[in-house]
Amino acid sequence: MAKKSYYITTFGCQMNVSDSERIASMLSSLDYVPASNLEDADLALVNMCSVRQTAVDRVHGLAKKFREIREKNKKFTAILTGCVLKKDSQKLCKIFDYVIDVREIKDLAKFLGSKSFDSIDHYLQIAPAHQSKFSANVPIMTGCNNFCTYCVVPYTRNRETSRPAKEIVAEITKLVKKGYKEIWLLGQNVNSYHGLILSKKGWTSFSELLEMIEEIPGEFWVRFTSSHPKDFNEKVIKTTASCKKVTPYLNLPVQSGDNAILKKMNRRYKVSDYKALIKKARKEIPNLCLSTDIIVGFPGETQKQFENTAKLFREVGYDMAYINKYSPRPGTAAEKLNDNVSKEEKKNREKILTEILKETALENNKKIVGKETVVLIDSKTNDGWLGKNDQYKTVKIKSNGQKKDLVGKFVNVKITKAMEWALEGEIK
Ligand code: 5AD
Ligand code: SF4
Repeated sequence: MAKKSYYITTFGCQMNVSDSERIASMLSSLDYVPASNLEDADLALVNMCSVRQTAVDRVHGLAKKFREIREKNKKFTAILTGCVLKKDSQKLCKIFDYVIDVREIKDLAKFLGSKSFDSIDHYLQIAPAHQSKFSANVPIMTGCNNFCTYCVVPYTRNRETSRPAKEIVAEITKLVKKGYKEIWLLGQNVNSYHGLILSKKGWTSFSELLEMIEEIPGEFWVRFTSSHPKDFNEKVIKTTASCKKVTPYLNLPVQSGDNAILKKMNRRYKVSDYKALIKKARKEIPNLCLSTDIIVGFPGETQKQFENTAKLFREVGYDMAYINKYSPRPGTAAEKLNDNVSKEEKKNREKILTEILKETALENNKKIVGKETVVLIDSKTNDGWLGKNDQYKTVKIKSNGQKKDLVGKFVNVKITKAMEWALEGEIK
């Protein structure tokens, strides 16, 4: 009998990508095989994101396609998981056969009528089917206790849970032995990692976890995302600086450069705290590459308040930024505020910040021209390779006749040209 096939559609962040890798391995252990497209699949799994309404709308947009597939394949099953709001799930359960909490993917067998096997305590213990052979996502915690007023995550992913440090170290040791060169430590707020096993000094903190990972033998890079400025402390800065494997790349979401807006967002830091953190991090970590997340057009954001964000953008001089237009989310505290910044104005503010970012990113990249940098190659192009350096900057490399397969390898590259979103270089 032909095996049943599945197709996973993933929306949202790296955590969702990582969860989909666990779903894929769970399904292959239940004897499902991947389908090359949704139309041919017996089982559709949608891993959704609810951070902005546009992402939710895309899931609603699948209804027509599912109806067409069901007409041809009466046994077609569709399961929705990921970050799902209760309010949305009432409508979405008309499109899907099951809407399940992401933690329930460990019990997928139950929903598929398959024979279940040894039960797992927590879904993060499922060994993922990594998409890449050299870069792996390793969640260290999930959930969030912060309740930023615009954000759905504390409702969709519940409170913070950290994985035991021992389990994380064992997983990374295995990956490095298999040849993985880049390990992404994932969590909604990695800096509040609070390991479930006791170290000599008490609970394992994020800095201690980084130190434990640094001890794992092998040549590999450690990256992490995301950090909340209120928890990104001096100890983490010092550890990032002292651990050779931890790369000089930091995503530190500021969200706004205005104190009154930060207060309305319940971010619990002031612009001056954030700037002091950046100053310390830049002093301790050479070649630090900085990115941030921003929300423009938060309810009540005046022109003056937005200008404070633009001013911070110029002052910090980011290398990268994820600029988001505010989207009211059901059930959050900000939903009750008047979403009074028009769509056009949000777009305009996004454009202004993007222009500043282009200038600062190019300026920063120009400083690297002529320097040598290590690049982890991630793909082959027509005339060379593409990769990321330790600072997580994209580097385009001309092959100059080199034929060797360099994908997944570290190479030394001399930077010859700077652009806004990428560098160009030659292999040394
Ligand atoms: N509207 C717009 N952007 C949002 N983000 C989170 N919630 C919202 C929202 N309601 C952004 C934040 C966060 C990133 C993951 O998504 O900038 O850091
Ligand atoms: Fe959302 Fe704030 Fe938690 Fe980040 S820290 S996941 S923005 S509530």
